[in-house]
Amino acid sequence: MKLILGFLASTLISSASFAKTCDVAIEATDAMSYNTKVITATGCSEVKITLKHAGKLPKAAMGHNLVVAAEADMKAIVAAAAKSSFAKDYSPGTEHVIAATKLLGSGESATITISTSKFKKGTKYKFFCTFPGHSSIMVGDVVL
Ligand code: CO
Repeated sequence: MKLILGFLASTLISSASFAKTCDVAIEATDAMSYNTKVITATGCSEVKITLKHAGKLPKAAMGHNLVVAAEADMKAIVAAAAKSSFAKDYSPGTEHVIAATKLLGSGESATITISTSKFKKGTKYKFFCTFPGHSSIMVGDVVL
């Protein structure tokens, strides 16, 4: 019985160490930028991304969100968001979107958690802001 319990305990411990949540904290600024160009998901089973709007400007003037998607889908998502409206948070929709925060104004924050099983090997992924005009600068790589 002791042996079985010992085996179970070590199995639980090893599976717990395999399931690794990586915490990523990103700030968005009034200068229309994120404070990083890279989200590293290497060795993580899930990535927990918290976006904080660290600026002073309101959502209507300098709103920021964070959308994660395949690089190949980014253009279509940005276009869909531009056709949305401020009232709808310049929503990137759900098609091709892996995860997205809501649109944030000064002082607000939001968290999204993504299982890295959603990422396919050999595909490049990006994170970006879909507030109109922001994605050319507010964009970075998700490194798997
Ligand atoms: Co933005």
